[in-house]
Amino acid sequence: MKNISLNIDKVTGFVSKEQIMALKPQVEAAQKALEEGTLPGNDFLGWLHLPSSIDAEQIQLLKEVAQTLRENCEVVVVAGIGGSYLGARAVIEALSNNFAALLPANGPRVIFAGHNISEDYLSELTAYLSDKKFGVINISKSGTTTETALAFRLLKRQCEEQRGKETASKVIVAITDAVKGAARVTADKEGYKSFIIPDNVGGRFSVLTPVGLLPIAVAGFDIDAIVNGAKKMEEDCSPAVPFEENIAAMYAATRNALYASGKKIEILVNYQPKLHFTSEWWKQLYGESEGKEHKGIFPASVDFSTDLHSMGQWIQDGERTIFETVLSIEQPNSSLLVPSDEENLDGLNFLAGKHVDEVNKMAELGTQLAHVDGGVPNMRITIPALNEYYIGQLIYFFEIACGISGYVLGVNPFNQPGVEDYKRNMFALLDKPGYEEQSKAIRARL
Ligand code: PA5
Repeated sequence: MKNISLNIDKVTGFVSKEQIMALKPQVEAAQKALEEGTLPGNDFLGWLHLPSSIDAEQIQLLKEVAQTLRENCEVVVVAGIGGSYLGARAVIEALSNNFAALLPANGPRVIFAGHNISEDYLSELTAYLSDKKFGVINISKSGTTTETALAFRLLKRQCEEQRGKETASKVIVAITDAVKGAARVTADKEGYKSFIIPDNVGGRFSVLTPVGLLPIAVAGFDIDAIVNGAKKMEEDCSPAVPFEENIAAMYAATRNALYASGKKIEILVNYQPKLHFTSEWWKQLYGESEGKEHKGIFPASVDFSTDLHSMGQWIQDGERTIFETVLSIEQPNSSLLVPSDEENLDGLNFLAGKHVDEVNKMAELGTQLAHVDGGVPNMRITIPALNEYYIGQLIYFFEIACGISGYVLGVNPFNQPGVEDYKRNMFALLDKPGYEEQSKAIRARL
């Protein structure tokens, strides 16, 4: 069976093999630190051996709870933000039919809330759910995140009003801390089924915990295959695998070598609309892990070929501080040929009989060469096919490479002190009890 693979041939005109190899000692030290837990952030390494240690009983329980939601709901709303949101959305979108919402339902439709504070979004959600048998998965590690708590307050009330308190308590599930936070208190008080987010797994590394696995199972996907794919990458990216053959080590070294050479922005590129949220998840993983102490590669993303008609200009000709990492899907899941047309008014008969994917692949190849010629180093991650197994591989590959890369950069990849500042200001401006002093100070600046 194939695996995901990494090709760095198209960066060597920008940084040499020697510059990449020079990072081998730092990469190996980072791998050792992760294994032995010797650097800051060592209390958040629970994700490191998660694929090989997931308990079969927990997987079974997740499947049973998912089945209850599938049997009793037309729609399941997953409430969460950041690490309590993006992993599940990335996987579900990558594996779903692009037009799933237009197809006859096969199990509930999974939708998302709790990741914004938009009055329009929440009002429109309320209206959409008003005639649906819906359930809720409330996900928050802290149990106190404003965006999620606000959405959940509305969803809980609506679910109880529409379905009655007893049914609501069966179709609302909590995924939160074992003991603390409002989400835990509510779950215990209302008798919701609940799952625990392990203390030692941070939000953005939690997709292989119930945070990601329950919504994915509710959407009808095979969580065993996801875990198996991740397990394969746990083996293939372990410190026992030599540097040159270890794709996580090579990816971490290459992006750090490029960063040191002045390439400050990494653009994750895809040629499949289904991967849009994979990039959103990746941006959180790398941005929140590495953007510290006034350093870190800025993670950006584009959806090609769509964005070749917009951002393509900047990438080809703008400031030369970028590099690209292309997610390339080797084999599409469907087959569609370009038809021949008698009149050929669009001049496309030269493509007749070819697979649409061949046209896409030539766009990908042509773009890569053009961007390299334009001064943009390119890496390619090849994914044999978009299925659960390879998505599992990709998740773990990016997670372990992120841990290595953050330590090579010299930051703690497992904290996020910078995300607290906006919250303090927002609470002060909203006159939250306990914020009186900050409230006065902030108003004086307005
Ligand atoms: O990665 C992280 O730690 C964050 O993105 C959190 O997941 C996010 O802020 C949501 O936090 P919580 O799960 O506590 O509601």
